[in-house]
Amino acid sequence: MTEFPKIGIGTWAWGDNLFWDYAQANDKEQVRNAFLTSLESGITFFDTAEVYGLGESERLIGKFLQEIGVKSQNVQIATKFMPLPWRFNAQNIRDSITASLNRLQLNTVALYQVHQPVSFLISQKTLMQTLADEVKTGRIAAVGISNYSASQMREAHTYLTQEGVKLAVNQVRYSLLDREIETNGILATAKELGVTILAYSPLAQGLLTGKYRNSGTTIRPTGARKIDPRFKPVGLTKIEPLLQLLEEIGAKYNRSPAQIALNWLIYQSKSQSQVIPIPGAKTASQARENAGALGWSISPEENLLLGKLGKYA
Ligand SMILES: NC(=O)c1ccc[n+]([C@@H]2O[C@H](COP(=O)([O-])OP(=O)(O)OC[C@H]3O[C@@H](n4cnc5c(N)ncnc54)[C@H](OP(=O)(O)O)[C@@H]3O)[C@@H](O)[C@H]2O)c1
Repeated sequence: MTEFPKIGIGTWAWGDNLFWDYAQANDKEQVRNAFLTSLESGITFFDTAEVYGLGESERLIGKFLQEIGVKSQNVQIATKFMPLPWRFNAQNIRDSITASLNRLQLNTVALYQVHQPVSFLISQKTLMQTLADEVKTGRIAAVGISNYSASQMREAHTYLTQEGVKLAVNQVRYSLLDREIETNGILATAKELGVTILAYSPLAQGLLTGKYRNSGTTIRPTGARKIDPRFKPVGLTKIEPLLQLLEEIGAKYNRSPAQIALNWLIYQSKSQSQVIPIPGAKTASQARENAGALGWSISPEENLLLGKLGKYA
């Protein structure tokens, strides 16, 4: 069974112009440095998808891996299949895996996830059977899903189990500010089935770093976040008490708010199924900082305090 590290790195922003303004910032060298620094900091688990930057995220990772000659056994790459309406049979799934592997310049990936539960003409049964076959041929080491509800997760788990393959992960939004999975059955079902939660947007797209706030900074978010109400003054006022608590706890451990927020997610693995945050990092310093969420722990009391304030923010 594939084991994943306690933290990974998300690479949606690498090459993406639809949400993240990648081309405008001309970020190739920056994300290359983020990649290199992640490896230097011990982060070896990269999450990408065929749709990120219309393939550019996978292409960049493939190039970086080649440049530094990293052996595929020393990194774990997770990518995703998007069940688009014109993909209607098992061959379409196999072709997508081939295309992803070509962009990544790899023969195998550690994890292949179905990006969305809506699969139009391909049934979940066909999807899961095809992916189980791909595990057997070795092109993917593990199967995951993303954005699946508790019942959809159970269904995927059943189909895979019939094929003798384990459902490895459900990748869902989870952070101190996004807590739906605690009450909609996803977290409980993941624990029951032994499915790992990959927590996406674990820094609430930068909000939990504390760099976007009403006072003391003029930094404004780039890309689609400009129109997100959570990044507007009213939204920022609401989360100020939580940001102050993150700073307060951070001062005790000499850690940043981002590191406390990520450590809180990792802490949830103690009582739930394993929770692995995959923070997006675009620069070397962000990658280094996020890696610093590992190797220490907040206390049980701090876990409760953060959990309570996060819920009401
Ligand atoms: N499966 C899905 O449907 C799905 C959906 C969303 C995301 N994901 C995955 O999850 C990953 C992470 O989610 P996300 O990118 O949406 O949100 P996130 O990880 O919560 O936030 C990432 C953004 O926060 C800022 N940041 C990160 N680390 C920082 C640090 N240490 N200090 C200061 N700023 C920092 C950066 O933006 P700025 O510097 O511009 O502020 C970065 O792009 C994605 O890359 C992707 O792999 C999956």
